[in-house]
Amino acid sequence: MQKFRKIGVLTSGGDAPGMNAAVRAVTLAAEENGVDVVAIYEGYQGLMDGNVKDLTVSDASSVIRNGGTFLLSARSKEFMYESGMQKAIATCKKFGIDGIVAIGGDGTFRGATDLTKRGIPCIGLPGTIDNDVTATDATIGYDTALSTTVSMIDCLRDTCQSHARCNVVEVMGRNAGYIALESAIATGAEAVIIKEIPHDEEAIIKKFAALRAAGKRSFIVVVSEGMVDYAEGFTTRLEEATGIESRFARFAHVVRGGSPSVSDRVLATKMGAKAVELLLDGKSNLVVCQRDGKIVTEDIAYALTVDRMFKGKLKDGDLDGFTAEQLESMKALCAQRTKEMRTLYDLANEMGK
Ligand code: F6P
Repeated sequence: MQKFRKIGVLTSGGDAPGMNAAVRAVTLAAEENGVDVVAIYEGYQGLMDGNVKDLTVSDASSVIRNGGTFLLSARSKEFMYESGMQKAIATCKKFGIDGIVAIGGDGTFRGATDLTKRGIPCIGLPGTIDNDVTATDATIGYDTALSTTVSMIDCLRDTCQSHARCNVVEVMGRNAGYIALESAIATGAEAVIIKEIPHDEEAIIKKFAALRAAGKRSFIVVVSEGMVDYAEGFTTRLEEATGIESRFARFAHVVRGGSPSVSDRVLATKMGAKAVELLLDGKSNLVVCQRDGKIVTEDIAYALTVDRMFKGKLKDGDLDGFTAEQLESMKALCAQRTKEMRTLYDLANEMGK
């Protein structure tokens, strides 16, 4: 096998705390193995535009505690077409990039697999606050975004308690209700509403009216972003039906920023080091995952397909080419994720009083 000389690293899609820690780990692990690293700025857009620069250990060594992504990020439409792909390959040839570590979510992995098929070995790392990569138990950035969400809901609780109010709060997570579920549990929210599990609005209203009648002053309802155009209207209906003065807040992008938590730094460091090890072992087209506390890998095709299966987005032909064993394991993983979500939902409701 040809010797690896240079690894490119990029971050793509929505930024997530811990992406910098992952880039740092890639840089340090590569250096340890005598391999150079280049920063590819603004994700696949930068790869097409040749926006790359050598990345040294001293550039990367102190970024572990920084939020955002110092490699910058972008969502590129052109990269979805063959013309964009060819520009990216030309950049790899020009700068001698032998392999790429791509950090992001499902769109990032699709790009990585397309490049691998065209001769540039890629490894994906799951970096997204939503924790919506089905193949891994945890994504880089989720833990930090969750903690930020919890701190902010705690602040809302203070003012709700002072004013005997309810705050309905919409939290991030377009395709997954994990931030909503776990922040609801961690803040003792009186209700949580996510798109994956049907809820009974009337029952929530009755519960709140009964709690108020029993003397409860403050209420929090956590709604996931996946419940598009729901939370604000619900705030009004809740106030009208119960007489509890209610306010609405949307946290949005604020929880994407901030210094990464210990857990995200550690996860990012383990995953970044693993990505380099895989590339140097001649492996590609894989996503690094964490399962039951262990760092493991999955084929990108498997990871993308199990993700669509879990989200109910499978299209005709998506399952073609997988073995019976792989299909069984996908179904088992989806069943496990559904159960985990249901358990969190039930716990949130049981404890939200
Ligand atoms: O990265 C995930 C996420 O933050 C989702 O929770 C959210 O729906 C989306 O990205 C927002 O995307 P954008 O940054 O393009 O507004």
